[in-house]
Amino acid sequence: MNHFLGLADLSVGQLKGLLDTAVSLKQAQKQGGNEPLLAGKTLAMVFQKPSLRTRVSFEMGMVQLGGHALYISPAEVQMGTRETPADVARVLSGYVDGIMARVFAHQDVLELAEYAAVPVINGLSDYNHPAQGLADLLTILEHKDGLAGVKLVYVGDGNNVARSLLFGAMLSGMNFALATPAGYGLAEADFAVADRLKTAGASYVAYEGVAGLSTAVAQADVIYTDTWTSMGQEEEKQKRQTLFAPYQVNQQLLDPAQPDCIVMHCLPAYRGYEISADVADGPQSVMFAQAENRLHAQKAILVNLLANKK
Ligand code: CP
Ligand code: NVA
Repeated sequence: MNHFLGLADLSVGQLKGLLDTAVSLKQAQKQGGNEPLLAGKTLAMVFQKPSLRTRVSFEMGMVQLGGHALYISPAEVQMGTRETPADVARVLSGYVDGIMARVFAHQDVLELAEYAAVPVINGLSDYNHPAQGLADLLTILEHKDGLAGVKLVYVGDGNNVARSLLFGAMLSGMNFALATPAGYGLAEADFAVADRLKTAGASYVAYEGVAGLSTAVAQADVIYTDTWTSMGQEEEKQKRQTLFAPYQVNQQLLDPAQPDCIVMHCLPAYRGYEISADVADGPQSVMFAQAENRLHAQKAILVNLLANKK
């Protein structure tokens, strides 16, 4: 692995390796601390958008592994206006051992990777959110005792998070169902990637409308939702709130679900919109375990890309 840009770039073995590493790094940390596997290593974190989880978990991940991380705010670099991603990549490569970037256009993170002499990690783009996807798989693994055969129903907007989950699910032998309003699902091209990644037992289905939802929910091991309005789509917020209202993950939607069905959300959560407050903060929600797992999953990515490399 030279970069971490998307789960679709990984083989089944690489994904499993990252999850195994995350499990053991988590265990080591809980038992007293991680070995300084990244002593002397540095990570530049370039952000074009706000962040709580991604910023803090990558930074603390580096610190806990003996390395150092540098946060670079959107106003500082102004990637794409003050400097091209290619120039940012070439400059940072002279200073640091790795670059993590949160961007608007996916093309920018691809360009960073093309021109960087050091590994590049995608910390969310408009296309995908693979670090989140990896942490989500870790969370499902912990709650469901394995991934193969797990039925995940994603309800709401077919966005960057949904796309990474689809790809991760296909590599892990999961059954993925997507329920979105018409025109807000994933693209044909995404399902073509899913077809390429599909391992034994994996399947996907996409519903437009809420008609198939209660049947899907009744069989679900995991219900997942995310904000209806992603960063960069703020001008569509009103329209989306109206259109997505029937897709709220609330007690009524969960009624047909099995009692051990878990509810996931990558956060930030907008209670009263994509998820009701009682469900977000209720017994089936694992969203804070999921948030914590960002730390452990990201450490696995960092160790894989930065440890034992010059
Ligand atoms: N889930 C997630 O990526 O959160 P942040 O936007 O706070 O990093
Ligand atoms: N889909 C959301 C995820 C936030 C972590 C966004 O892109 O804003």
